[in-house]
Amino acid sequence: MSELIQKTSRELRLHILRYNPQDEKSTPHIQCFVLKEAPGMTLFIALSDIRENQDASLNFDFVCRAGICGSCAMLINGRPGLACRTLTKTLPDDITLAPLPVFKLVADLSVDTGSWMRGMSERLETWLQGSSVERDLDQMEERMEPELARDIYELERCIECGCCVAACGTAHMKADFVGAVGLNKLARFDLDPRDERGDAATYELIGDESGVFGCMTLLGCDDMCPKDLPLATQIAYLRRKMLRQGIME
Ligand code: SF4
Ligand code: F3S
Ligand code: FES
Repeated sequence: MSELIQKTSRELRLHILRYNPQDEKSTPHIQCFVLKEAPGMTLFIALSDIRENQDASLNFDFVCRAGICGSCAMLINGRPGLACRTLTKTLPDDITLAPLPVFKLVADLSVDTGSWMRGMSERLETWLQGSSVERDLDQMEERMEPELARDIYELERCIECGCCVAACGTAHMKADFVGAVGLNKLARFDLDPRDERGDAATYELIGDESGVFGCMTLLGCDDMCPKDLPLATQIAYLRRKMLRQGIME
């Protein structure tokens, strides 16, 4: 009991990287905020508390507060994660927060993942391709085995949070690398019988160093994905398939 009281009444020190590139007077610095931990507190709640009671100028993003929108991703003690799904009780008294790298910084903990994701999506054409998409709206879709629908759904659970990109050494070095998020999307369409783009078209999109052959199997993506998507398996599958396609061409 006394251990529980001690745990729930901890004093947390949040060391937050502050910088607003829009403000000429702003310089990057760490600001420390102290607050009392509450039972069931998430990092999102802690940040909201700081914004409400200590510093209204603190920038961070959130929409759903339920691990669905992907907007609250940040570096938590150096590891990418979702603020709304991270309980402070899983962290030490001193917590360092920084914005996700790779993406354009908006201010403080807020980054523009949207433009990056949109660029990747447009480049990889991450939508169903082929005649099945152009069918009349009153025409029924071909039936699909439930197991296959489940496998496709599994890969569709990506919330585009950017954690896999921030955790990837290749994405840090190569601006045009589509990341595990992009490769996962192509694996999803590869699985879907309604998509008619074919292996040669997939090879065109990801059969180079900005795609599947840029991946150095560092596996940070697989370790850090908050939705536990099987990223390493999908990348390995695509690599084998694209290798075969490359040899055939
Ligand atoms: Fe986030 Fe996982 Fe999607 Fe990457 S694959 S953007 S880590 S949900
Ligand atoms: Fe990066 Fe994941 Fe490959 S971390 S290098 S995309 S295995
Ligand atoms: Fe939506 Fe955290 S606020 S995932």
